[in-house]
Amino acid sequence: MPLTIGIPREIAAQERRVATVPEVVEKLIKLGFEIAVESGAGEASNFSDEAYTKAGAKIIHTASALWSTADIIFKVRGPSTKEVGMMRPGGMLVSFIWPAQNPELLQQLAAKQATVLAMDCVPRISRAQKLDALSSMANIAGYRAVIEAAHQFGRFFTGQITAAGKVPPAKVFVIGAGVAGLAAIGTASGLGAIVRANDTRPEVGDQVKSMGGEFVPIDYQEEGAGTGGYAKLMSEGFQKAQREVFAKQAREVDIIITTALIPGKPAPKLITADMVESMKPGSVIVDMAAEQGGNCELTEPGEVVVKHGVTIIGYTDLPSRLARQSSTLYANNLLRLTEELCKTKDGIVLVKMEDEVLRGTTIIKEGHITWPAPVQTPPAPSEKPAKVVPPPAPKSPEATKSSQTSGLAVAAIFFGAALLFLLIGAYAPPAFLSHFTVFVLACFVGNMVVWNVTASLHTPLMSVTNAISSIIAIGALMQIAPPVIAHMDRPDVWIRSLALLGITFTAINMFGGFAVTRRMLSMFRK
Ligand code: NAI
Repeated sequence: MPLTIGIPREIAAQERRVATVPEVVEKLIKLGFEIAVESGAGEASNFSDEAYTKAGAKIIHTASALWSTADIIFKVRGPSTKEVGMMRPGGMLVSFIWPAQNPELLQQLAAKQATVLAMDCVPRISRAQKLDALSSMANIAGYRAVIEAAHQFGRFFTGQITAAGKVPPAKVFVIGAGVAGLAAIGTASGLGAIVRANDTRPEVGDQVKSMGGEFVPIDYQEEGAGTGGYAKLMSEGFQKAQREVFAKQAREVDIIITTALIPGKPAPKLITADMVESMKPGSVIVDMAAEQGGNCELTEPGEVVVKHGVTIIGYTDLPSRLARQSSTLYANNLLRLTEELCKTKDGIVLVKMEDEVLRGTTIIKEGHITWPAPVQTPPAPSEKPAKVVPPPAPKSPEATKSSQTSGLAVAAIFFGAALLFLLIGAYAPPAFLSHFTVFVLACFVGNMVVWNVTASLHTPLMSVTNAISSIIAIGALMQIAPPVIAHMDRPDVWIRSLALLGITFTAINMFGGFAVTRRMLSMFRK
């Protein structure tokens, strides 16, 4: 018999997300499940009961009816004691749990003989990326952190020169370039700010750059990566060097976004009260690590406070402030997890503890606490093979032969050209020979001039065509201008008309080229 997945309404204060959305309900039904949604569960994220019904879900009017009948509960926040009390014995729960911080909840759920999968325990390995809810929520939180900062900041992010005055671009400093940090860097640079970032893992420098930021290094040699791709606690020497860099940044920038975190540890205090005091009045700090105690000494979790003229935002519900978006991504993460649990697509789940992803995520199996999962030792990084430079290959007989052939061809061309010159000299009128010599030399000099122009314009092709145009323009101007030497004849009207035509066409080419380039560049300008 197919199992029923129940979606209760979130009861935590300020929580606007919901664990599934109508679009995903249809996909869960295709996997063989029945879906029951508590009435009003999607209201705060703009999903109506009608939309769920249309997608095939059943609406249940009370929380107790939903909790006691559903075989599997999908939730965002961990359940309250009351909710655990309503849960069906031996049922299954999938939600954020944070087992390290909530040992009592773990005991209550174990007493219910429940099977519990914690979305905050999904291993951060590439196969599990599609169900990594921490990353999808951190991505949204990083975006929202910038929007919150922009809301409090009294200026544009992008620099502008207007008739009413010049606005310098905002300078943003992001601490910690993990998922949230990179999202914040991308959003702030997209809004036109100058973005800098630091992380204890210098290998993220390239990612910072690719998101439009500049990596600010710490001049202290120490490996920053710990296990599982996360950071580690740094030495006192490193922390001192880092504080000096952060103090300098605090004096220079307008906005600081902090995301530094080492899992299972309180957030490192990186922005001191002195640094806050040194910031310009009107500056903003968004402390994303507020829930773990904050990266800034003056943060008050969940609040917006103004200290020393600096607004410090300590919101702990950033993904919930974009409820529709985060509900959709979270629902997709849960769908991917369900696909892993129900490979047979018959509405029956199988928690295979041999599977690395399911083992890491399962924290209670049929009443037995299985958290924490044994640490998987990552394979030792293979040594980088030394770069092998192949010795220069000896010249093959074919290559030698072909270079000899090309040498002979050049000699033949030169010989042919000399013969042509001799014939012209013997038969053509004397004036023609001198004009012809000037023409050949002009071609040679012109060729050298054109190809030696430095490509300092927007494209190398444009530099070359403009050099050709300039030569034509100079030549034509010389034909039109009055003779420099008194006894020289003035070119006849035909030549001057052709020169004028030449100048007109080159002018179109030159000015048109600049106009087109300007239009092209404006397409890429922010
Ligand atoms: P993550 O683990 O991917 O990134 C944290 C980064 O901080 C890592 O790159 C790490 O190397 C770096 N880091 C650690 N210690 C550092 C130090 N001393 N100096 C510089 N960098 C350091 O974590 P993720 O997913 O990006 O989340 C970041 C933070 O945002 C966490 O504290 C998380 O709890 C928080 N968060 C807050 C939300 C909110 O509503 N306020 C919502 C979602 C996430």
